[in-house]
Amino acid sequence: MASVQSRDVYTWVTCIFLLFQALVWNGYCDEFEESIKKLETLENDASLANIVFFALTQSEGYHANRAKAFQKHFNDQIKHLEKENRPLLYLSHKKWADIGTWTLFPLLTIFAEKFSKKSWFFICEEETRIDLPKLRGLLQQFNSSQDLFLGKPLRDQEPTIIHHFSDPKLFTYPDPAAGFLLSYPLVKKLADRLPDTGFRTDFNIDPKHELAKYIYQDGNGVRMTEVPELCTDNENAQCVTSYPVKFPDCGKPVKEGDFFVAVKTCEKYHKDRVSVVKNTWGKETENIEYYSHVEDPSIPTIDLGVQNTEHGHCGKTLAIMKRFISNPKTSQIPWLIIVDDDTIISIKRLKRLLACYDSSQSLAVGERYGYNVVSGIGYSYITGGGGMIFSNKMAQKFAAECPCPRDDSPDDMILGLCLKRFGIPVTHTPYLHQARPNDYSVDFLSHQIPVSFHKHWMNDPYQVYQMLQDEGRSSSDEDHEQYVDTRKDGAQSDGHDEL
Ligand SMILES: *[C@@H]1O[C@H](CO)[C@@H](O)[C@H](O)[C@H]1NC(C)=O
Repeated sequence: MASVQSRDVYTWVTCIFLLFQALVWNGYCDEFEESIKKLETLENDASLANIVFFALTQSEGYHANRAKAFQKHFNDQIKHLEKENRPLLYLSHKKWADIGTWTLFPLLTIFAEKFSKKSWFFICEEETRIDLPKLRGLLQQFNSSQDLFLGKPLRDQEPTIIHHFSDPKLFTYPDPAAGFLLSYPLVKKLADRLPDTGFRTDFNIDPKHELAKYIYQDGNGVRMTEVPELCTDNENAQCVTSYPVKFPDCGKPVKEGDFFVAVKTCEKYHKDRVSVVKNTWGKETENIEYYSHVEDPSIPTIDLGVQNTEHGHCGKTLAIMKRFISNPKTSQIPWLIIVDDDTIISIKRLKRLLACYDSSQSLAVGERYGYNVVSGIGYSYITGGGGMIFSNKMAQKFAAECPCPRDDSPDDMILGLCLKRFGIPVTHTPYLHQARPNDYSVDFLSHQIPVSFHKHWMNDPYQVYQMLQDEGRSSSDEDHEQYVDTRKDGAQSDGHDEL
């Protein structure tokens, strides 16, 4: 009955709308469009229930609040629907959290096995915002019985190490910030191919690219369909998704005395690399020390008594942590930041980022990579080049309970292995970067305010530092235009039932 009535009203409104369209001004028309949309929404059909939503969320306090905010924006749109017509929403820090779903691959098997009656899988990030009625309309254009992969495409500027030097012309990969979709038949095929011995899943560096590569299957699989309605920047009026938070606003930045920066270097780089640090971001803080195997009073460097090693720096990193927690000058400082001598970082932005996190917890924050996560036997770790952030408590735990197998073991991976043993997840932040700006797609960087990049190779570190000073942001510290307050809106979530 209700649906017949609303059809009539719909037709009526449409007629009026068409009649006035040529005569009235835009805002007026928008109102009509708005009301049509609402009427459509009232039709309580089941098409949204054909979609399974999966948001990539995290358990750490700040991110858990952002997940609540996501859940609230989602639930507010579906609460009027009959229970059986509501779509499923899963948050990755609550569901299948221990199997590394951040690498995306484990989801394929779960989706294929558990949801054979569903049509679509929608995957997005904690800050993605979705207009569900519009999404429903969008999907009516696609045939979910076919192998479909829908997204906002990212394109590399050049072959890059973070994508295993894959040819950027071959295929595009999705931006999860805009959300992307897989149809059930495609998911089923992808899951059936796992484990695929011809496809390396041992290292996870950038899951969105790795998944697209797997789906592309050397040209024998599926290319992503570019869908302009999946957006990060409200590029057009048809946008179904958006990504409003370029950088978190967690209030006042942490104070100068609340963090300590340790720079790892060695004699070979005292001159060129350390001088870059001293001429750029090193000037932003007094709380910085340089650690080497050779004392150099001109910098000055501190000799930790650990022999220099060519590859891994586990010995050095652990010695830094031990010194940090035992030296009376630093032992009470809430945060320890460990960087390489070729890390390029904005301390000003770092202070804003740190304000989001609770230093009284055991926290390890950085850019998350994975080793053998997909096969289930591995672990996640923070890749060191973009900077590693540890709470004081975390540094204490590492110093006490995470011995290095050898001084030259890879420090970031050993720490990841210890985190797994401790049962403490890596807290991923998209603002720290293991590689150079050129290694990331322009569109990906366009929806964030980066805090760090890494490496001097074929890259002007001064230019990168300049980019961290001004890009996407005016000079005034008080100008909050780019920052959305991300502390409060999660807190008022009414804690809907766990979906
Ligand atoms: C949808 O795709 C399936 C499988 O290719 C096909 O059999 C069916 O006819 C298509 N439906 C429409 C409405 O195009």
